[in-house]
Amino acid sequence: MSKHILASFLLTLAIIAYLFIIAYPQGLRQTGYGVSIAGGEVLLPLPKPVSNMSIEETILLRRSIREYTGEPLDLERLAVILWAAYGVTEPRLGFRSVPSAGATYPLELYVVVGARGVLAGSGVFLDPGVYKYDPHKHVLRLVKSGDFREELARAALEQPWVEKAPVSIVVFAVFERTTRIYGERGRVRYVPMEVGHLGQNVYLVATALGYGCVVVGAFYDDQVKLVVGAGVDEEPMYIIPIGVPAQRHYTSFEDVWEYILSARSRN
Ligand SMILES: Cc1cc2nc3c(=O)[nH]c(=O)nc-3n(C[C@H](O)[C@H](O)[C@H](O)COP(=O)(O)O)c2cc1C
Repeated sequence: MSKHILASFLLTLAIIAYLFIIAYPQGLRQTGYGVSIAGGEVLLPLPKPVSNMSIEETILLRRSIREYTGEPLDLERLAVILWAAYGVTEPRLGFRSVPSAGATYPLELYVVVGARGVLAGSGVFLDPGVYKYDPHKHVLRLVKSGDFREELARAALEQPWVEKAPVSIVVFAVFERTTRIYGERGRVRYVPMEVGHLGQNVYLVATALGYGCVVVGAFYDDQVKLVVGAGVDEEPMYIIPIGVPAQRHYTSFEDVWEYILSARSRN
């Protein structure tokens, strides 16, 4: 046997050993759409800087976007949006991307993925379904399979952008985590404030990555819980549909200067 044949034989043996000894026992498999998941979890690409828009320009260009082209989101970009929404940014203390009263972190994120809604590689899509985001492992855990966008839109008073967007992030609050320390003030102030911080992070990162989104607060709470398969202690706060904007919104700083200067000239 030549050295070349021996080397290919050993390489094949190593791949088979990896698949049977390491990968399969951990549950690594290909889904119907060909995305690798391990132990029932979609391992999201690790967060890293992917935009080159300044924070000032991002704030200038942020708008609520309700019309999308129908193109999918890219998994790497969705991963950055989820991390910016509620991911860990201070590993030693476990602090997150948003401020939280007493660092109680009452929020939970579900992600409603439509059919062909998230591109994970060339021609490879994430299975449609409802997933829950685990910020510590930075993974998506499948809650239920299927395309639930139409049902979610029905729960949101038929707002079409909820059905059309390839992906919606649904933000829930477990109020008890905060009210156990802060009582009623936690329920009426601290938790809703934290949801606002999260929503703005999603808006800004989505904008910087060329996506558009809108925060939706009008919906039937019980129906949203049912559609998503949320826990009894989880209350829906926001649905945030995200997609590729059908039209680019543009304002310049010059437009803003003109507005300010004209306001000043009016006394
Ligand atoms: C608490 C809250 C709830 C909202 N609910 C909805 C909603 O149910 N549907 C919707 O289309 N937009 C909703 N919006 C988005 C507002 O309509 C939007 O922010 C406003 O028109 C200003 O536009 P801009 O976000 O582009 O600056 C909501 C915004 C906030 C802050």
